[in-house]
Amino acid sequence: MERFVIQGGVPLTGKVKVEGSKNAALPVMAASLLIEGRCFFNNIPKLTDIEVMSKTLKELGADVVDFDGKLSIDASSLYQEEVSCKLARKLRASILVLGPLLARRGKVKVALPGGCNIGSRPINLHIEGLTKMGSSIQVEDGYIRAKARSGLRGAEIYLNFPSVGATENLLLAASLAKGKTVIKNASLCPEVVDLCLFLKKAGVKIEGIGTKLLTITGVKEIRPTSYSIIPDRIEAATLMIAAAITEGKICIEGVQAEHLEAPITTLRKIGVQIKVDKDSIQVERLSKLKATSVKTMPYPGFPTDLQPQITSLLCLAEGKSRITETIFENRFTHVSELKKMGAEIEQKGTSLLIKGVSFLKGNKVLASDIRGGAALTLAGLAARGCTEILNIKHIDRGYFKFEEKLASLGAKIKREKS
Ligand code: EPZ
Repeated sequence: MERFVIQGGVPLTGKVKVEGSKNAALPVMAASLLIEGRCFFNNIPKLTDIEVMSKTLKELGADVVDFDGKLSIDASSLYQEEVSCKLARKLRASILVLGPLLARRGKVKVALPGGCNIGSRPINLHIEGLTKMGSSIQVEDGYIRAKARSGLRGAEIYLNFPSVGATENLLLAASLAKGKTVIKNASLCPEVVDLCLFLKKAGVKIEGIGTKLLTITGVKEIRPTSYSIIPDRIEAATLMIAAAITEGKICIEGVQAEHLEAPITTLRKIGVQIKVDKDSIQVERLSKLKATSVKTMPYPGFPTDLQPQITSLLCLAEGKSRITETIFENRFTHVSELKKMGAEIEQKGTSLLIKGVSFLKGNKVLASDIRGGAALTLAGLAARGCTEILNIKHIDRGYFKFEEKLASLGAKIKREKS
């Protein structure tokens, strides 16, 4: 098991470039299952989650060639419709094979998805929508078994929550379904927009891209396409917070600032100076951090994937802050670990009441999920003394060579085998 060892207290300075978005790459990779022919993808992040999705596609019979951030996938000759428990358990996004395999092959068996342990993460919206499109789905003994013998047909589907994954699964299913599918209360997040733009470029008729009302007209065949993935807005915002928490000054390149409005607004409220250029963002900490209230919401609200990281920052803000997590019911695994570093946090239901402290103390802490692990890393960068972060395989799922990026900005951090 590997760990990070961090000597805190070094202000980060310099330039750093973000990777492609993990949460945009995964659904676009799943979309290749709809296509007979080779698709080419650029700006794919080299993450363990991407490796697991590649293995999943290979297990189904797709030919996947991965070369240094470029990926090509040819799903012309799929030879089975079953995803093993071993792979599905590792990745929430494994659920995204449901829609394309039902549409393309009329049947699918996939183990219930794994991924970050941040809540119950039900899949009822996926199942209800696909059932409306003509599939019959059973969930038993840890597997989802679905059939659509007479193919999928368009339907009108209302999501009672703008679920990212359910929107993506239904988009994929609708692409080859007979007729028109309307998805109401669809997720607005940039990763869903990226999937829509890929599908549209590949010949699927989609109206309402970037709105809560998506209308998809299924086509008979989707043509092989090349596509470049959007930058990772959560990695970018995590690096912004790294500059703020270490009282540094950095420039983050290759970002799409329009995807970062909520984090930028919140960081400015906390007292961080942020300058937005065409495809880069300058972040500088010039004054003391001010306490504030943050509430996670579906996009374009403050992202739940940034809640652990902003929690670390607000531990050092003057005054009392409140953070309310409205998306997942168990996304506070980082709190107990931050308290080991001297943070003063009280959890009340789905809210955290944080009383700012003047410094955090280095300690040995445990990462339990991607963003919680990133939050502990940020806390270690600011803490006095040495911090060890165990179980960093979680961090590697969502951040490419995180320690190397931080070290290139001056951080005293290294990866060690423990
Ligand atoms: C995606 O997960 C992201 N993962 C998550 O990022 C992100 O936190 C989440 O969207 C919210 O933005 C990927 O894209 C691979 P949801 P997903 O369906 O699709 C409830 C990371 O750190 N819900 O929008 O699973 C659910 O319980 C990861 O990169 C239902 O009730 O998110 C949750 O409370 C973590 N029924 C809420 O919706 C359903 O059928 C959000 O889930 C589906 C979801």
